[in-house]
Amino acid sequence: MYRSHTCGELRLSDAHKQVFLSGWVQTLRDKGNILWIDLRDRYGITQLVAEENAVSPELWQTLRSVGREYVLQISGTVIARYAKNPQIPTGDIEIRVQEANILNPALTPPFTIEDQTDGGEELRMKYRYLDLRRTPLRENLILRHKVALAVRQYLDAQNFLEIETPYLIKSTPEGARDFVVPSRMNAGEFYALPQSPQMFKQVLMVSGYDKYFQIVRCFRDEDLRADRQPEFTQIDCEMSFVNQEDILQTFEGMIKQVFKQTKGIDLPSPFPRITYQEAMEKYGSDKPDMRFDMTFVDFTSLAKQKDFVLAQQAEAVLGIVVPNAATFTRKQLDELTLFVQKPQIGAKGLIYIRYEAENQVKSSVDKFYTQEDLAHWLKTSGAQVGDLILVLMGDLHKVRKQLNELRLHVADLQGIRNPESYKPVWVLDFPLLEWDEDTQRHHAVHHPFTSPKPEDFHLLDTNPLAVRANAYDLAMNGLELGGGSIRIHDAQLQAKIFELLGFTAEEAEAQFGFLMKAFAYGAPPHGGIAFGLDRLTATLGGSDSIRDFIAFPKNNKGKDTMIDAPSALKNEQLQELSLSVLKK
Ligand code: AMO
Repeated sequence: MYRSHTCGELRLSDAHKQVFLSGWVQTLRDKGNILWIDLRDRYGITQLVAEENAVSPELWQTLRSVGREYVLQISGTVIARYAKNPQIPTGDIEIRVQEANILNPALTPPFTIEDQTDGGEELRMKYRYLDLRRTPLRENLILRHKVALAVRQYLDAQNFLEIETPYLIKSTPEGARDFVVPSRMNAGEFYALPQSPQMFKQVLMVSGYDKYFQIVRCFRDEDLRADRQPEFTQIDCEMSFVNQEDILQTFEGMIKQVFKQTKGIDLPSPFPRITYQEAMEKYGSDKPDMRFDMTFVDFTSLAKQKDFVLAQQAEAVLGIVVPNAATFTRKQLDELTLFVQKPQIGAKGLIYIRYEAENQVKSSVDKFYTQEDLAHWLKTSGAQVGDLILVLMGDLHKVRKQLNELRLHVADLQGIRNPESYKPVWVLDFPLLEWDEDTQRHHAVHHPFTSPKPEDFHLLDTNPLAVRANAYDLAMNGLELGGGSIRIHDAQLQAKIFELLGFTAEEAEAQFGFLMKAFAYGAPPHGGIAFGLDRLTATLGGSDSIRDFIAFPKNNKGKDTMIDAPSALKNEQLQELSLSVLKK
């Protein structure tokens, strides 16, 4: 028998029991004639103890020879511990070792297998199997399992069917680059890996599977960030005979159950809703972090009242009120200026107004605006004594983006983005289309199958950019957790949208022909949504980086350094696939 119990199981009530344990050596403390070993497995840590004069010389020798991460099996008796350790559940007991068997020695790990490790990220990725032994990662994977389980239980109870769809497919229109796979049997032809199962789930609706879901891997070749991986997992869902409200209700229920079941958290009911328009005006983001206020204030008309050239030239002058921050030092304000001037943010400069005391206002634009002018700014913004106003100006679209970054950054500095506070918000009424300067074409904001709002149909010809879509996102704590839409099920309307998106009839046929054909055989009204499982789990785990919630993630260059992928192909393989590689 390798083990009778796990390393996380034994308690004082087990005292005097004869047990077998197997696990990894976390630490060895050798005091000369007495030694302790912490033995670890997935379930916890149990302390082992042996005294030289109470065991055979062979056993003593074996125990002293073990090193960190050795795989060890022991048998012994559970005894009450003299010095209890309230930090761990097994802290009241220890095992007096009677037999020990080294199942496998181990090399010294390149970093410590502790909650706070000394290993940098690259090293931990290369030795991911060691990293995964650490408690925080193990807890993340357990949480992920629980989230997936809660999702399946909820959706199963609502009559959803989990149906798998293929990975070797044709390009799907989610807006990123495809990962492609060469076909050996069809020389010169390639599969694309799905960016999502979007078209398949719509086909399933045509087939009558009116409640579909799938926890499914998706692949997108895009620039990576903390919340983006090239392969990630969606909770992908679709329903027939539903309107937007049905979808929001169903999946609000799912998210609430996931939070309750995995963490005992009651989310607000119902989730707040805002329109895309309002989100952009107040937060400059379609995934607003609602854990704190600091909503945008529009100073454009006030700023333009004086001869301040930059304000005169600016399309928009927007600001935020940072509570209790009038005490920010010059150095702190200079740092904020440097922050907004970083190339990835791109603001030219930052204006501040410190509301230091009643009738005492100091600003970086005192040259242009009198105290009386600034009193109007304070009134408009609702600032209180002790507050700091930060202002950016320029092109409306850019200022919104920049001020969003600044808002989040200042909130981080103020420590008000509490990872244990969860603020969901539905963002509704996204625009259907956006104009892409580079390609000089309309792009679908969501994807080409998203239906316009019926009340905006009349704008399709005259002002297509003003057309709102039946599309919705769920955002939480500044992260987009999920998004979806009600789909077009009318062939004529779909043809019109393809046309607006600049597809010729032939192009539309080549890319989406099978779906259009399927729709000709009786497509029900339908809609759906997909959530990022990685993001949902990371949010629940209090992190905005998804990497540590995925067992084997890629690094930010898209590489798996443990298995060394991607890697070059051998010449024979290239030939078999009818491929040749251009020299780098
Ligand atoms: P969308 O493209 O919004 O919608 O994706 C849905 C959700 O998937 C997650 N997500 C990602 N997570 C990690 N890494 C990535 N690279 C990544 N890209 C997306 C996000 C996002 O909200 N077919 C539609 C859904 C539908 O219309 O039903 C779709 O894929 O959490």
